[in-house]
This record gives sequence, structure tokens and C-alpha cells, in this order.
Amino acid sequence: MKILVIGRGGREHAIAWKMAQSAMKPEIFIAPGNAGMTEITRQTGTPVTLVNIDENATEMLREFALQNRIDLTVVGPEAALANDIATAFATVGLRIFAPTAAAAQIESSKEFAKNLMRKYGIPTAAYRTFDCYEDAKTYLDEKGAPIVIKYDGLAAGKGVVVALTAEEADNALKDMLLDNRFGKGKVVMEEFLQGPEFSLLTLVKGEQVVPLVIAQDHKRAYDGDKGPNTGGMGAYSPVPVIPQAQIDWAVEHIMKPTAKALIAEGCPFCGVLYGGLMLTKDGPKVIEFNARFGDPETEVVLPKLKSDLVQLMLDILDNKEVKPEFHEDAFLGVVMAAKGYPGSYIKNIPLHNPADLQQQVFCMGVKEENGQLFSNGGRVLFVVGSGKTLKEAQQDAYQGVEKMAHPDLFYRKDIGWQAV
Ligand code: AMP
Ligand code: GLY
Repeated sequence: MKILVIGRGGREHAIAWKMAQSAMKPEIFIAPGNAGMTEITRQTGTPVTLVNIDENATEMLREFALQNRIDLTVVGPEAALANDIATAFATVGLRIFAPTAAAAQIESSKEFAKNLMRKYGIPTAAYRTFDCYEDAKTYLDEKGAPIVIKYDGLAAGKGVVVALTAEEADNALKDMLLDNRFGKGKVVMEEFLQGPEFSLLTLVKGEQVVPLVIAQDHKRAYDGDKGPNTGGMGAYSPVPVIPQAQIDWAVEHIMKPTAKALIAEGCPFCGVLYGGLMLTKDGPKVIEFNARFGDPETEVVLPKLKSDLVQLMLDILDNKEVKPEFHEDAFLGVVMAAKGYPGSYIKNIPLHNPADLQQQVFCMGVKEENGQLFSNGGRVLFVVGSGKTLKEAQQDAYQGVEKMAHPDLFYRKDIGWQAV
């Protein structure tokens, strides 16, 4: 069994780490991966090879998969999905656990996602779409603040402004529609919702929707949920503030209807459908959908998964009914980021060897030079603690974080605050 994982972050590290534990004894290739991922071989004995092909070089990836007779490909980053890697692989008979670009529009286009939810009655915040600043400003004057402004396209988690004042909202509109900060595009303006957020990752093919355990991310850069939005600064699972009945409700009334809606729209989904949900006083509502594993949610959800991930994905691709099992333990992980992130950040920070830790470390942005690991990105390391309770998992995680600490790295000290 030969597996290709596409991507280079902590999420792909976790996917490859979990797949490496499969009873099918796979051989794993990661394109392009990062230097921290070869640690998987030491931990599991599974051969892991980094392949120097960019995640956006669809044609080269396909050539590689054909030549090396890859049995199963899993895709991490949204950009590769938007390049339609799923169709490129499927047309030559390669098995890939990923949605087509058409289905991935549920993430790549907020307008597509919003229209789909409106048409099929899937609960989400009320919204309007604008491409012209003057019209958007008129709507803002009518609605007032708080209001949420989102760039309609991929902006690496940074295209969302939760504006508490009309002035903030107006600045965001100018930024996105007049100064074209993320390129020429549209914005979605939506109703401000309140309540705890959670990430519900589901494995989907057609009508089959298989929920994994939920996780909670921490999107703001600093303690107390302050500072700019980031790709995510920490995560944990389970999420006790969200009752199981609400999760079940969300699976039945949000995730399953969405999978059916995508079939009805002619773009059936295959891969990970991720609901970014908020538990409002009126029940769960969709904040956003992603068409891929979340990062860093994956790094706490996959350690909780007891079942064989390779077998699960193959069975789902074969339209077999599956029922994954999960460990009882709690997992909590903390991102260690380069100072300055999510703005311009310090580069090439020398890192301690994660292999020296008892805790599992997933490498988000690292590289190796002469046997020494250095940071290679804004989010650098993800240290995962575990325990019988979230409190224990939190203590365990921060013990690991302290061992990896460096003056040029920062991290939030309150990951899991809603739970412990
Ligand atoms: P998104 O990229 O759409 O997930 O938005 C990033 C973050 O902005 C979310 O995780 C929420 O914390 C916040 N957010 C997005 N939409 C809303 C909304 N309608 N009401 C309140 N907060 C929101
Ligand atoms: N952690 C949020 C995301 O992956 O989009």
C-alpha cells in the first residue's frame, strides 16, 4: 500500500503519522512535506519519503503518483483542491480522497457556500454579497455594527473582519473593495453571531457522512482571544461546552443536508467536509465550510481516532458503510509561532529537537540544515498533550511547550480556557 500525502504543514504531519500506524503497513510519500516529518519513521517504523514537488504542481504530482503506483492520495491544502487535483488524478484512475474543485467551492467561494445554504435551508448567518464599495457602504449604514465582513475567496484565514464598530467595518470594506488587499473580488457582509465555536470534521463520499470527534480551534493570535485572526493557535478535543445532542443535530441538519445539496448541484463531495460551526441560542449555525482537514484541529482529532485511517478512507471510497472508533483520552495542542505572526515574522529560528519530548510534536513550518531544525514559516510547531481529562492534557502540552521555548517563538498560554 503506497500512500501520497500532499502538503507541508502540521496537518499533513498528523495525517501521515496516523496513516503510518495502519495495519496495512503502508509506505508513505509526502510532497513536499517538511524535515520534521521523517520523525514518523523513527516512531512507527513506517518508511516515509519526502518528495520535492510543490503542492500546486498538479501535473508533476500526477506523474509521480502514476510512476510510483500510488494506491491512495490524501490532500491537505485548499490551494491544491482549487487547482482541481482531484479531477486530474481521477481521470487517470488514481484514487484520491479529495473533492473536485467544483465541490471545493464550498470553501473557495463564500458566495457559493452561502447561496447553497440559503437554497437548501442550512442554518447560517443572514448575509449579502457586494462587489462595489458604495453599495456595501449603504448596506452598512442600514445594518450598523457589529457586523462581519468577509473577502470572497481564499485569504488564508485572514480575510475575515468581525467589526464591532461601523468605522472598523468601513475600513475593512475600503481595504477589500477599494484597495483590493486580497485581489479584485467580492465581499460577503453577514449578521454577527454569538456562541461557542466548534469544528466538526466529517469524512464524506456522496451521501455517506462520517463524523469525527469535534475540536475547538483558537483563531485569535493572543491570550483572551485578542489580536488578529490567524490560521489557528491551538486546539483540543473533546469540547465539553458543546452537548452531544447538538453535535448529532448538526450532523443531521447541517452536514448531511450539505452533502445531499452538493449532489443535487451536480458536484458530489468526496473528502473531508469541515463545518466551522457556532452554537448560538437558536442552535448550531454554519460560520464557514472547509473542504479539507482543519489545521490545527486535525492534530488533535487524529490522535483521538482509534480506527485505521487508511482502511477508513479506502472503505469510504468503496462506498462501504463505516463506523470509526475513538479513544477516551483528551488531547490538547498548542501552536508555537514565530514572533510577528500573523504579520511579518522572525525567520530561521533554531529549534530544539522535538524527538526529545515525551509529547507528540507535529511540525508546522520547519526545515533542516546540517542536521539542525530551523523554523520555516509563521506557525512553527504544534505540541500535543494528552491525558484522562482536558486539564491533564493541557498541563502535559505546556510541559512540552516549555521544553521547546525560544525567545523568538510565542504561544498562547490559555489554550482550552473554555473547557478547563
Ligand atoms: P471564518 O474564516 O469564516 O471562519 O471566520 C473567522 C472567524 O471569524 C470565525 O472563526 C469566527 O470567530 C468569526 N466569525 C466569522 N463569521 C462570524 C459571524 N457571522 N458572527 C460572529 N463571528 C464570526
Ligand atoms: N483551523 C481552521 C482551518 O483549518 O481553517
